[in-house]
Amino acid sequence: MDFQALHLQPQKQQSVIQVKDKSFRVYIPQDEISAAIKRISAELMQEYKGKDPLFLCVLNGAFMFCSDLMKQFSGPAEIGFIKASSYVGMATTGKVAFQEAGTLNVSGRDVIIVEDIVDTGNTLLALREHLMQLKPQSIKVCTLLFKKEAYQQSLPIDYVCFETENKFLLGYGLDYDGYGRNLPEVYILND
Ligand code: IMP
Ligand code: MG
Repeated sequence: MDFQALHLQPQKQQSVIQVKDKSFRVYIPQDEISAAIKRISAELMQEYKGKDPLFLCVLNGAFMFCSDLMKQFSGPAEIGFIKASSYVGMATTGKVAFQEAGTLNVSGRDVIIVEDIVDTGNTLLALREHLMQLKPQSIKVCTLLFKKEAYQQSLPIDYVCFETENKFLLGYGLDYDGYGRNLPEVYILND
């Protein structure tokens, strides 16, 4: 097994980890992630007071963020899941396919797209176009990470926990070839 973080407890404390052929170091520790999520969920509760939003968790990467975000959101809300596939290894393929998990009742709803990371924005734009056909009342975007320098779209990102460097990130839902999603902090590729 070449993924050291699978040997859980002791490795979780390490600030540098190896996943397959790459080395990563801690970039955003757990306490900073929690604090940012509290801040964003407070904003969301303010914005969606008296509404019944649909959190749309973009799988696979956003599962951990969406879970922690929703735990902080009190008030009526639903969750839906949609799978976006666009990324192989470290290079974006440009094409995005969506697969809904169960029935998504988007029509007339206030939708909050929950993303792990917005990079070029291609996934987000394609998802927005896909959702618009389902006639939502509104669509807003909430992301844990935003690579502002890499962003190629004009669509505003409404809620951002962290603007990051334009480097490959891992952990807290984000993977490198399927691994690293279970790490509780966000890591960055070592040069
Ligand atoms: P975009 O379409 O270029 O914005 O890329 C969006 C998707 O690519 C994200 O939802 C992630 O699944 C993946 N992705 C982008 N950057 C990274 C990264 O640094 N690490 C891991 N996955 C990434
Ligand atoms: Mg994603």
